[in-house]
Amino acid sequence: MKKITVKELTDNFIEVIGKEWMLVTAGTKDSFNTMTASWGGVGFLWNKPVVFVFVRPERYTHKFTEQNDSFTLSFLGEENKAIHKICGSKSGREVDKVKETGLKPVISERGNILFEQSRLSLECRKLYTTELKKENFLDEAIPKQWYDATHGDYHTVYVAEITDVWVK
Ligand SMILES: Cc1cc2nc3c(=O)[nH]c(=O)nc-3n(C[C@H](O)[C@H](O)[C@H](O)COP(=O)(O)O)c2cc1C
Repeated sequence: MKKITVKELTDNFIEVIGKEWMLVTAGTKDSFNTMTASWGGVGFLWNKPVVFVFVRPERYTHKFTEQNDSFTLSFLGEENKAIHKICGSKSGREVDKVKETGLKPVISERGNILFEQSRLSLECRKLYTTELKKENFLDEAIPKQWYDATHGDYHTVYVAEITDVWVK
């Protein structure tokens, strides 16, 4: 894996996050969890390069994003869709996702979890977190579609600084 700068990023993250998907991974080498995510973004805030991701409290991954100062985003490419499907449908509470998928963890200098299969990885340091609230939605159709009834709890949002960028 080779480190590049944020300036060298060329991905269209609307396409990549929405269609290729990503893994959100948090924890330490002895205890971590990962899940597939297709909601989030990459941008510029407080004069820093940042990501923002949305994790529902019922995800096992939520415990790890809450308890750790950092997390990583891993972009595995279309060729690893099968890994994303497992990490997006099974819970780390029930299965060992590393065993189930063949993901190969790599521990970064900062102690974050990256994966050998990843074509692009972002190491991110949490800066801000908040819970989405029903009353703050300006378009009522969104809570109706994505939160009411069966869909689950309101997401926790994390804004995090991109500290390192790795490519294969
Ligand atoms: C394509 C796709 C995108 C997903 N995006 C998100 C997301 O952005 N936020 C989220 O909380 N869950 C998302 N999920 C659901 C989690 O990946 C899924 O519930 C997973 O099994 C959670 O695993 P865990 O319990 O080990 O954390 C997505 C699932 C798929 C298949």
